[in-house]
Amino acid sequence: MTETQLTIHRLGHQGDGIAPGPVFVPLTLPGEVVAGAVEGDRMDAPRIVTPSSDRVRAPCPHFKTCGGCALMHASDGFVATWKAQVIETALAAHGLTAEMRPTLTSPARSRRRATLSGRRTKKGALVGFHGRRSDVIVSLTECHVIAPELFALIPVLEEIVKLGASRSATLSFALTLTETGIDCAVSGGKPLDGPLRAALPRFRDRITRLTWGGEPVYADTAPRLSFGPVTVNPPPGAFLQATAEGEGALYAAVSEALEGATRIADLFAGCGTFALPLATHAPVHAVEGDDALVAALLHGARHAPGLRPVTTETRDLFRRPLLPEELARFDGVVIDPPRAGAEAQTRALAQARVARIAMVSCNPVTFARDAALLTQAGYRLNWVQPVDQFRWSPHVELAASLSLPHLSAN
Ligand SMILES: C[S@@+](CC[C@H](N)C(=O)[O-])C[C@H]1O[C@@H](n2cnc3c(N)ncnc32)[C@H](O)[C@@H]1O
Repeated sequence: MTETQLTIHRLGHQGDGIAPGPVFVPLTLPGEVVAGAVEGDRMDAPRIVTPSSDRVRAPCPHFKTCGGCALMHASDGFVATWKAQVIETALAAHGLTAEMRPTLTSPARSRRRATLSGRRTKKGALVGFHGRRSDVIVSLTECHVIAPELFALIPVLEEIVKLGASRSATLSFALTLTETGIDCAVSGGKPLDGPLRAALPRFRDRITRLTWGGEPVYADTAPRLSFGPVTVNPPPGAFLQATAEGEGALYAAVSEALEGATRIADLFAGCGTFALPLATHAPVHAVEGDDALVAALLHGARHAPGLRPVTTETRDLFRRPLLPEELARFDGVVIDPPRAGAEAQTRALAQARVARIAMVSCNPVTFARDAALLTQAGYRLNWVQPVDQFRWSPHVELAASLSLPHLSAN
């Protein structure tokens, strides 16, 4: 096949380099000259002719094959700036600019939530991340992303695969490192019949709670998390910010954006990451679509001394957003929707004219769309705080402060 030489102009949303065409070239950086065979719109095995000054040696030996990381070949400074630029580009598409604060990046080996895959092999079992653009599971001798406690569980998960995976199935392990050990929810396994149910409790000294296809196997010690002074027992598979450092950075930004608020609503509240510590300063109404998360949040609030009143509501905020008249009693709102954003709820917020809004987002595109609805209604976008808790991946997260002009010194 003929070799083509290309210059990389920018990185795409998946972290691949993009040359004019467009041609997607993985593991490259802007400004680099690369050579190789182009198939369709991809050059999958580039030779780096002229490396970027931002290129570094990837610290992990699995980087080239494992799909867990896409940007380990770039310096920390490059990744931090690129993630901020992704947000700026999304805002610019709506004619918006904002003060961008420096990206706050979580340390290596700090991910406390991860999903690993497992499969039976001729020799036994294999658990790891999927390969880059492939179904193959990569065997890991080290991992620079997940917490050491999660990495150390891999041999245990391989034993579980041997017991509970059918020959061709891929098991999925959703892992959360909590204060009382590892919470593990398994999906894709054999039916939980009598022998499997009897065999699985042998892992109870390594896994605090084991859930199989949504069914509890055992939970001797309830998994426990702390949000500010409040202890919460999350249900299996509960949403949790990916790193403790990321959660701290997001909470610091949210609490700064809502400073001075005396009645707060937390929309898409999960099990209380923001609502519960905010309730040390002001009464909070937490709204969330998942009943089990709401129950965990409320239970935590009821058993914590010294909190201001916490009320909760289970509500689908896509179908039934809080209406402007319901929002009128709040002077601060935090809104942290899933990737789709919260267009309907943001339209209602814009009408309600709540004084301070903290937006948290894992998708700059929907964030920018929703932020534009607020700026069109007269809000000022005060600043954006990029938060990188998915180190070396192309994911971008952020918190932002918006307020009505008379509060814009906030
Ligand atoms: C990005 S998470 C944020 C959770 C929480 N703020 C935190 O930081 O832990 C988004 C939350 O929105 C909830 N959610 C998803 N769709 C929803 C909907 N239509 N209505 C209400 N909540 C929804 C999810 O259950 C999840 O808890």
